[in-house]
Amino acid sequence: MSQAQNTGQVMKAVIRIQRFNPDVDRKPYLADYPLDITDDTTLLDALETIKNELDGSLTFRRSCRHAICGSCAMNINGKNTLVCNRRVKAFLDGKGRVTIRPLPYLPIIKDLVVDRSAFWEQYLRVKPWLIPPASYNENQAPNSEFRVMPEEVAALKNAETCIMCGACYSACSVVGMNKKYIGPHALLKSFLRVMDPRDSAPAERLENVGGDDGVFRCHTIFNCIDVCPKGLNPTQAIETLRKLAQKRRDFEAARVERQKTLEADHV
Ligand code: SF4
Ligand code: FES
Repeated sequence: MSQAQNTGQVMKAVIRIQRFNPDVDRKPYLADYPLDITDDTTLLDALETIKNELDGSLTFRRSCRHAICGSCAMNINGKNTLVCNRRVKAFLDGKGRVTIRPLPYLPIIKDLVVDRSAFWEQYLRVKPWLIPPASYNENQAPNSEFRVMPEEVAALKNAETCIMCGACYSACSVVGMNKKYIGPHALLKSFLRVMDPRDSAPAERLENVGGDDGVFRCHTIFNCIDVCPKGLNPTQAIETLRKLAQKRRDFEAARVERQKTLEADHV
């Protein structure tokens, strides 16, 4: 049994993997690897076994193995997902086969590893960090934390749990057509900052995402929701940003008033 680390009933599977080595291959091709699996074997287990026992040249990214780091997103049977927390058995077709490809719409570096430069460039474009109020003195630690209301946390819609896996970005048809589009991952992060009462730059952010390559470019296809391994809803975040971008000045004035009460509570 090649899948020695798992227990349970052993079954046969074929792991079909898209391979591509730019040094020797003219174009990507599919290679089949027969493997013994159990109910518990994850897609990442299968890839590790193939690399360790069948072909050491197989190249893929992974780190945490716990759906936290976001590095192992791939395309499984045509749909993006993480491979570290999904079991092979759930993806086998009638021939006992599962097909693993790299994330679409991104240049392939080797086998299942893609170049995520565009993904990170768009992310930085929305200034994903928190921009504190001008009164905040970064040289002097505050006496207490800035308290945010439970309903303000709820309005973030768990967006802070995004692990930046890229599954949504590379499933987005608009990204496929237009690499200038900011993309669902970065727009979700922008939403997180705009909705955070501690952030002092919502107007600037809304102006940024309200441009030609931002929220109004989304075609509401829902692919991002469909593939997100954290169950997040970038489409809804984009829709909220769209509405706020249309009434940007009023929103900015409301934020200034809210920050006055934050600072008053804080001193
Ligand atoms: S929104 Fe979901 S799919 Fe997109 S990067 Fe974050 S965790 Fe991944
Ligand atoms: S290895 Fe970290 S998310 Fe899968």
